[in-house]
Amino acid sequence: MNVSNQPKLTVKALRKTYGPVVALTDASLELKEGEFLTLLGPSGSGKTTMLMIVAGLIHPDSGEVWIDGKLATYAPPFKRDIGMVFQNYALFPHMTVAENIAFPLRMRGVPAARIRDEVARVLDIVRLPGMADRLPRALSGGQQQRIALARCIVYGPSIVLMDEPLGALDKKLRDQMQLEIKRLHTELGITVLYVTHDQEEAMIMSDRICLMNDARIGQIGTPADLYFRPRSVFAASFLGESNILEATVAAVDGGRARLRLDDGTMIVAAGGADAVAVGAKVRCMVRPERVSVLATGAAADNVLDAVVKDVIMVGSITRHYAHLPGGQEMVATGLTRGDGGPAGRGTQVRLGWSADSTVVLP
Ligand SMILES: Nc1ncnc2c1ncn2[C@@H]1O[C@H](COP(=O)(O)OP(=O)(O)O)[C@@H](O)[C@H]1O
Ligand SMILES: [Mg+2]
Repeated sequence: MNVSNQPKLTVKALRKTYGPVVALTDASLELKEGEFLTLLGPSGSGKTTMLMIVAGLIHPDSGEVWIDGKLATYAPPFKRDIGMVFQNYALFPHMTVAENIAFPLRMRGVPAARIRDEVARVLDIVRLPGMADRLPRALSGGQQQRIALARCIVYGPSIVLMDEPLGALDKKLRDQMQLEIKRLHTELGITVLYVTHDQEEAMIMSDRICLMNDARIGQIGTPADLYFRPRSVFAASFLGESNILEATVAAVDGGRARLRLDDGTMIVAAGGADAVAVGAKVRCMVRPERVSVLATGAAADNVLDAVVKDVIMVGSITRHYAHLPGGQEMVATGLTRGDGGPAGRGTQVRLGWSADSTVVLP
């Protein structure tokens, strides 16, 4: 067997129900060694359930978990070589930082002298040397979370699971910790399965994102895959802002779909064209930053007449909210210009964007 190609973690067709509630179903994915994969989805979509099954803290109704090529679906948690970090730190309040970090090593019978070295080593890694003798309550939330991380990585687990670990921190600390966890991931070469409901956090941190909705995996791909080539309205709207137009497929050729909007206007889409058939009712998506307010005489693959309803400047970005003749709203975002932008409120404009920026959603 080629060990380097063997997935670190494979889950196959996992299903978990609680009475009539389906918490997770049809869930299959693979994690490569050293990969950072994030389960992203709204609250209740099954993210924690998946993580708990991988950790061995709950058993699935059906399906399999494979770790390092070994079937582990029903293996007890401590036989899985997995570390876990939760949102609420879960440090032992009556133990010092050093004792907290030492705990998993003591459980594994590591000699005292080595424990001391290891504790010092991971305190350096999480950049909190000198904190060894403090109690958790004498630390800030961010510091406590770093200690929880240190305790998780100290025994060198081959997979680290993190369930919304930054959820309790304020925005500034969260931004710092995101980069800190990324750094640890790169430096230690660990495999990470991460959970968040925050799409920005998922895009910043992940090699790949597994988008979850309603107990199912919706789409798995790189952040760019999901952002530029969403395969559902849910994916298009959960990650970033999107303009969505309803249309009928008029023709498909050369990897492009020609779409007719309700008012008869034609639009060309290069994304997702292989997955739709002529005559189908579809929606198509274009990101606001791809839509421009066209200058007089300027051309684009797709052009729609619209009236600007609002112009909102948000620092470096300005948003133009415009209405199409049918009443539908479209948003165009662009870098803020010193002259107040291309069009003021109430102006009749043409919105333009390329076929390459247009994705058909079946
Ligand atoms: N112990 C439980 N008993 C009953 N329902 C549960 C239990 N755990 C989770 N659920 C339900 O399963 C679904 C998925 O939950 P969860 O995996 O925690 O979602 P997420 O982590 O994405 O917010 C939710 O509808 C939740 O209410
Ligand atoms: Mg959860």
